[in-house]
Amino acid sequence: MDTKTHWDEVYATKKPEAVSWYRAHLETSLALIERAAHSRSASIIDIGGGESTLVDDLLAKRYEDITVLDVSQTAFDVTKKRLGPLAAQINWIVADITQVDLEPSAYDVWHDRAVFHFLTSSEQRMAYVRNVAKAVKSGGHVVVSTFGPEGPTKCSGLEVMRYDSESLHGEFGSKFRLVESSNELHHTPFGSTQQFLYCYCRVD
Ligand SMILES: C[S@@+](CC[C@H](N)C(=O)[O-])C[C@H]1O[C@@H](n2cnc3c(N)ncnc32)[C@H](O)[C@@H]1O
Repeated sequence: MDTKTHWDEVYATKKPEAVSWYRAHLETSLALIERAAHSRSASIIDIGGGESTLVDDLLAKRYEDITVLDVSQTAFDVTKKRLGPLAAQINWIVADITQVDLEPSAYDVWHDRAVFHFLTSSEQRMAYVRNVAKAVKSGGHVVVSTFGPEGPTKCSGLEVMRYDSESLHGEFGSKFRLVESSNELHHTPFGSTQQFLYCYCRVD
């Protein structure tokens, strides 16, 4: 099954709060984005935003230039319905991050929670890194969150990679200066816990 079909099927069959990665609010992501975005006009892209409420929280904080990219149109249909008229303020991109060609130097802040770890081939990871290196402005910031070394080996039925800050930073290369990293214990809606890693980088 290809990536798009897989995720469209997940979102067509599960309620937003019934997926393992669900959180009412992505507090750590939001705090790092606020640290990275120096003004309300900062351009922010959320990779694999899915049905997450991060976009609602960014709008509530009055950010004016928000893009959400995801391979699943089905997820966006749900998110747009939840946002109502506010959805018109967002730039929506339905695309596979390993195949899309993003605009050069378009974004001040790049955010990804739980997408990069699905890229199990080096070709996919190189395509992702080419996009982030091209699309984030010099002096901009990148927030990437993956499963940590003690995180699950699968998510949504798919194999995933697990990273510590060194191995994740190693995937991105020297253009990305690691400012900070932290682990987060995510409590799933099913009562289990998952170790996440957050890396916060500055782009030279
Ligand atoms: C585990 S969910 C995380 C959703 C959201 N970031 C969150 O933290 O709640 C992974 C998301 O990435 C999207 N996704 C998976 N592979 C992708 C790819 N290659 N390109 C773009 N989006 C992708 C899925 O559709 C899904 O919405």
